Amino acid sequence: MTSAFRTALLPSGEAVPALGLGTWNMGESRARHDAEVAALRLGLDLGLTLIDTAEMYGSGGAERVVAEAIAGRRDSVFLVSKVLPQNASRKGTLTACERSLKRLHTDRIDLYLLHWRGSYPLADTVAAFEELQRAGKIRHWGVSNLDSDDMDELGRVPGGGACAANQVLHNLSRRGIEHDLLPRCQRTGLPVMAYSPIEQGRLLKHATLKAIAARHQATPAGIALAWLLRRPGVIAIPKATNPQHVHDNRAALDVALTETDLAELDRAFPPPKGPRPLEML
Ligand SMILES: NC(=O)c1ccc[n+]([C@@H]2O[C@H](COP(=O)([O-])OP(=O)(O)OC[C@H]3O[C@@H](n4cnc5c(N)ncnc54)[C@H](OP(=O)(O)O)[C@@H]3O)[C@@H](O)[C@H]2O)c1
Repeated sequence: MTSAFRTALLPSGEAVPALGLGTWNMGESRARHDAEVAALRLGLDLGLTLIDTAEMYGSGGAERVVAEAIAGRRDSVFLVSKVLPQNASRKGTLTACERSLKRLHTDRIDLYLLHWRGSYPLADTVAAFEELQRAGKIRHWGVSNLDSDDMDELGRVPGGGACAANQVLHNLSRRGIEHDLLPRCQRTGLPVMAYSPIEQGRLLKHATLKAIAARHQATPAGIALAWLLRRPGVIAIPKATNPQHVHDNRAALDVALTETDLAELDRAFPPPKGPRPLEML
């Protein structure tokens, strides 16, 4: 069996779980609250100890769900949250982080990301991230939805080289980053966090995925996630509220895709032939 605790390395050398738990759409409904908390706790019990959330999700509601799920076990969780671009000024980032910490019932966020680029200069957001780091309120900072040219610009900002991750849309049906952004991140040792790793469920009816899943006694989601996790430095953060889905996603860590599987997947989901602008959801 493959280790349940497969990891990716941050530029600092710290190992983080390569398979985590997403939280978009959580914290929006009272009726689903208990199931969402339970799904996150189940994921943590199964070793998926990286949780991805954001101030945007459920307008803070997802962070409250996360707080409940991690109560009593904060130290075993690698917690990721994000600041909205409209809050990402020098001062706004500091106050947004304080609000997130309060909702998350914790004194620190392990990785704090700029959710996507807005109108504030990257230099201001990075300066705020550095201040939060000095205060011990965040341990690492990173970005999300930044394409190669944005990463170039970030690299020229004072302190920009300390970026610890880029979270982008990546799955079998969204392979554009394989042309440029992914190899670039891999060259520089920057982890890529693949969001919407099963394309919000839309991938799972695909006949090729079903056929490969049958061969491995796995599920289509397990195959889609194993395809992402085969690459070093790639972190996948599927969101699941249904407990069976949490188990199926965890099982992706036990799938070893063969060369034949990979060739079939390339035929069904062709890799990019040239540069493509970064897609977002
Ligand atoms: N940085 C960004 O801009 C950005 C953008 C999008 C997402 N994200 C992050 O990435 C996370 C994941 O992306 P996502 O939520 O958009 O989509 P996703 O993880 O690709 O898909 C989630 C959907 O798939 C279902 N699902 C999960 N596991 C399944 C399984 N094994 N079998 C069948 N269905 C399954 C879930 O259903 P149930 O919930 O009913 O189980 C849910 O409807 C988000 O939650 C968020 O944390 C970041």
